[in-house]
Amino acid sequence: MSDVPAISPEEPADHAAVDALIEAAFGPGRLAKTAERLREGNHPAPGLSVVAREGGRIVGCARMWPVKIGETPAILLGPFAVDPSMRSRGLGQALVEAVCARAKAAGESLVILVGDAPYFAKLGFERVSADVRLPGPVDMRRVLVLPLKAGASGGLKGPLRHP
Ligand SMILES: CC(C)(COP(=O)(O)OP(=O)(O)OC[C@H]1O[C@@H](n2cnc3c(N)ncnc32)[C@H](O)[C@@H]1OP(=O)(O)O)[C@@H](O)C(=O)NCCC(=O)NCCS
Repeated sequence: MSDVPAISPEEPADHAAVDALIEAAFGPGRLAKTAERLREGNHPAPGLSVVAREGGRIVGCARMWPVKIGETPAILLGPFAVDPSMRSRGLGQALVEAVCARAKAAGESLVILVGDAPYFAKLGFERVSADVRLPGPVDMRRVLVLPLKAGASGGLKGPLRHP
């Protein structure tokens, strides 16, 4: 869509504004989520997280984290948020497509996330194998993967964990 703001890599100077956008979108309850166990003590995958800017303001973000599924390296997508004033214009989809394209260009094989299947199925995500375990309670129907290489989502098993 032509009116979607420009998307660019998240820079260190953006961190506070991104944190504020995430806090506003999810509230403090986000820290109790199982996916957060994979982010705490971890570091974002260098160069893969992005922001969307409009008029110098950050209005969208998607962060990417290195993880492993068993012994298979993967990238965890999230948090992912769009400012309420900018929703339903295709920006969320553009952010997901941007981070997945960056991960693919970096040679990654697989993106994984915990999210709403109806939203992410449209972007090519599929349900993960039931043989994958998360570090806490989760509805497995919300654990979704996008293969970036042929066959990358097949045969996944074991704990989703820090790299
Ligand atoms: C989810 C979110 C990032 C989508 O951003 P967006 O820029 O509005 O996304 P898009 O424009 O690409 O898509 C919007 C469409 O997806 C739909 N959609 C949004 N969230 C959805 C969800 N959780 N499940 C199913 N559909 C959803 C909207 O209804 C909208 O449909 P419409 O255009 O017919 O109104 C945004 O709503 C947001 O920041 N929500 C709060 C944080 C959050 O839930 N993040 C995702 C965690 S997995």
